[in-house]
Amino acid sequence: MKLKILVTAGDGIGPEVTNEAVAVLQEVAALGSHTLELDAKRIGGVAIVNDGTPLPTDTLEAALASDAVLLGAVGGNEFNSLPPDKRPEAGLLQLRSALGGFANLRPAFAFKELAVNSPLRPEIIDGADILFVRELLGGLYFGQPRGWNRATNDSGGEAWNTMRYTKNEVARVARVAFELATKRRKKVTSVDKANVLEVSQLWRATVIEVAAEFPDVTLEHQYVDAMSMHLMNRPRDFDVVVTENLFGDILSDESGVITGSLGMLPSATIGGKVNLYEPVHGSAPDIAGKGLANPLGAILTGALILRHSGGLEAEAVAIETAVRKVLEQGFRTPDLARSNPQGFTVLSTREMGANVRETVKALLVNA
Ligand code: NAD
Ligand code: IPM
Ligand code: MN
Repeated sequence: MKLKILVTAGDGIGPEVTNEAVAVLQEVAALGSHTLELDAKRIGGVAIVNDGTPLPTDTLEAALASDAVLLGAVGGNEFNSLPPDKRPEAGLLQLRSALGGFANLRPAFAFKELAVNSPLRPEIIDGADILFVRELLGGLYFGQPRGWNRATNDSGGEAWNTMRYTKNEVARVARVAFELATKRRKKVTSVDKANVLEVSQLWRATVIEVAAEFPDVTLEHQYVDAMSMHLMNRPRDFDVVVTENLFGDILSDESGVITGSLGMLPSATIGGKVNLYEPVHGSAPDIAGKGLANPLGAILTGALILRHSGGLEAEAVAIETAVRKVLEQGFRTPDLARSNPQGFTVLSTREMGANVRETVKALLVNA
């Protein structure tokens, strides 16, 4: 198998975590005699500084010419005063839009090894296994009109964004959610705000129509405010959760609490020309450059590349198993050792990556 992967490491902890993810992928590829063609390009703040734009043309072209893009993270405090269309985050949104993937899969499951690290009680999270399907190309992120008029009135102006969806945009992401549910526990929870928003009423009506194509899948609806509570109270009740762009952004970070840390969460965006893979977390400026970042979300994102773009299911599972094993052995990055009653071994980003590499090697060699 040959896979051409573009790595856009980006800002903050992005390069630290993608280095470890790539090293694990290289190990797995070498063991299976697969060829990884790796290229690296700039995106985000580092591209603003070097190229004057958050998404340079050569990055975009290389992304479109690859089989998969692995993104680290973008953003940094020094760019916070820029308008939205000039910020590092704009580069990521342009890349998402150009690659065309509209279904962002964000799995969140409880690692029993991490139960002692979660602020939620073990009996609440034990066995929780949720797949968020976040719509990624619509809603407030891309809806027009948007703007900020700084001088319309004495109180300092006004600003506006538009949460907009077409029926087709809802139907296509709903279909992905239902299809994935047929291979899981056959339940879809659609999250909206249909008690207030027209756009959510369209969302709900469309999801109900799509559900008719999948008679063996149960559909339920939740309002987003209540859902944010249900996720913490009874996360085990959810299987596939489908929702619009902003609600999915918020609920997926919240689900980091179920897993033990935001640094554990991977994602894959499918349905477009080229799949885009990114850990859910951001550039974490507060810990960047210190070797404190948890690379496991990025490493698990690498597993998703092998699963969804490489067709290498066994290798993807090997990476996921290796992650479980290093946790079982008591290895933790600092974010996972917040509450450390059992005296786990705290590792740097690189040490954690090296451990996963060794473990995955042992698993594949002995397979
Ligand atoms: P963040 O996800 O960067 O960090 C939130 C908190 O989680 C911080 O305390 C951070 O230290 C911690 N954290 C995140 N990832 C971690 C990891 N792998 N290991 C250990 N701890 C980790 O979110 P933020 O602070 O709200 O945003 C920082 C910047 O990142 C902003 O510019 C934001 O726009 C950007 N961002 C980018 C992406 C992306 O590129 N995909 C995603 C989210 C946020
Ligand atoms: C994410 C991030 C991005 C988003 C930002 C950085 C544009 O928060 O991937 O979750 O809001 O989608
Ligand atoms: Mn987010």
